[in-house]
Amino acid sequence: MADLVVKNARILLPDRIFDGGVVVENGRISGIKCNTDLPDADEIIDANGNYLLPGLIDCHVHFREPGASSKEDWFTGSCAAVAGGITTVLDMPNTQPPTITMDRLEEKRKIVMDKALVDYGFHFGATLDNKNDLMKLNRVASVKFYMSRTTGNLQVDSEAIIFEDFKILSEKKIPATVHAENNDMVEYWLNKLKDKKDADAMDYAEFRSNICAANAVNTVLFLSRIAKNRLHICHVSTVEELELIRKNKTSNITVEVTPHHLFLTKNDIKRLGNYSKVNPPLRSERDRKALWNAIEEGLIDVIATDHAPHLKKSKERDILTASAGLPGIETMLPLLLNEVNKGRLSIFKLIRLTSENPARIFRIKNKGKIEIGYDADFVIVDMDIEKKVRNEDLFTKCKWSPFDGWKLKGWPVKTFIRGNLVFDEGSIEKIHGTEVAYMEDGS
Ligand code: DOR
Ligand code: ZN
Ligand code: ZN
Repeated sequence: MADLVVKNARILLPDRIFDGGVVVENGRISGIKCNTDLPDADEIIDANGNYLLPGLIDCHVHFREPGASSKEDWFTGSCAAVAGGITTVLDMPNTQPPTITMDRLEEKRKIVMDKALVDYGFHFGATLDNKNDLMKLNRVASVKFYMSRTTGNLQVDSEAIIFEDFKILSEKKIPATVHAENNDMVEYWLNKLKDKKDADAMDYAEFRSNICAANAVNTVLFLSRIAKNRLHICHVSTVEELELIRKNKTSNITVEVTPHHLFLTKNDIKRLGNYSKVNPPLRSERDRKALWNAIEEGLIDVIATDHAPHLKKSKERDILTASAGLPGIETMLPLLLNEVNKGRLSIFKLIRLTSENPARIFRIKNKGKIEIGYDADFVIVDMDIEKKVRNEDLFTKCKWSPFDGWKLKGWPVKTFIRGNLVFDEGSIEKIHGTEVAYMEDGS
């Protein structure tokens, strides 16, 4: 007798759709079978002919603990994740205190262990002087480099140190993730912005311009070519970055884009005001189109949310002191399914960009695919449900979305983590999220 059977599903295998059911034993997928061949089970769930996708792996979230749990905590962040079809998150190190020593990593582990519903892993933060920690590092998804100032002052603006760190990570086979904006340029133009009378959100986006990002991408592409390390470039947002990546991409380089850069532009700044403030900023329609073309072309490896919740009150300040960042974990999958419904994105590409590739890039064991022996992490989506994103329906503690009011067709209805039904048409079942295991831990 199996623990769980999900029958009548259109199962998204990596290269084809299989009509049938998934069998789960001990939290793992133990069978993928035609409906007529399915065994008996303690629990049988009917997917009603809907798609069953591998659970999404959001490799870029800011869950704010320790230090800013008024914005998000691991319980609210987890609820938001599973409501958005996400079964694993990789958390960024710019918490307070930041995750920049082994002790801090252990402290974060203890907090998260008790509160997470979703499965998780951690990115470690590079600083100007934590080489010794990098050398000892294991059980992390990556080491994150903030090349310029953003939320949390975790900043490595020395190219020499970035290069030396890349070489250490190359030895240890741990990927480097980068927030690539050139610090000198960002600071120079932010200072100019300070001098401008009545600076607003549009000025912020204009001053923190494409060249800041492209210049930094150019630098890290070069440094990592020499250091021969694995490099993951976060939230690529401009035509210029894409051109550089197109010329220099190797199997060591992977590229991420966010839903906000795929669906919003500077035109949305009028509507969103300071709520639109994010680093890197919203860009032009030309940039947005180029990102979609790059997805089509296969240049983009990952779509990740960069879920960066901030309370309304910290957005409702003047543009220079307003917090930067957008929440996005609950809206990514519906936004993308809506594109699938419109025929603009293939469902196979969707699962590759949000599940299979993040698992591969960050070396996560037994996740990212519907396959026998893999964790039973999956999401049933109903492609016919059409409804509006509404701030009041969100699980995130910050309770707002830049997509509030958008009508989207295609929504997650049931989310399973290791065979546990954690999200079921709006209700949440509490389970204990577990930390992911890595293929090579570098130790
Ligand atoms: O806008 C941003 N917000 N960019 C970042 O790099 C960090 C993030 C945050 O943590 O709020
Ligand atoms: Zn970033
Ligand atoms: Zn981020």
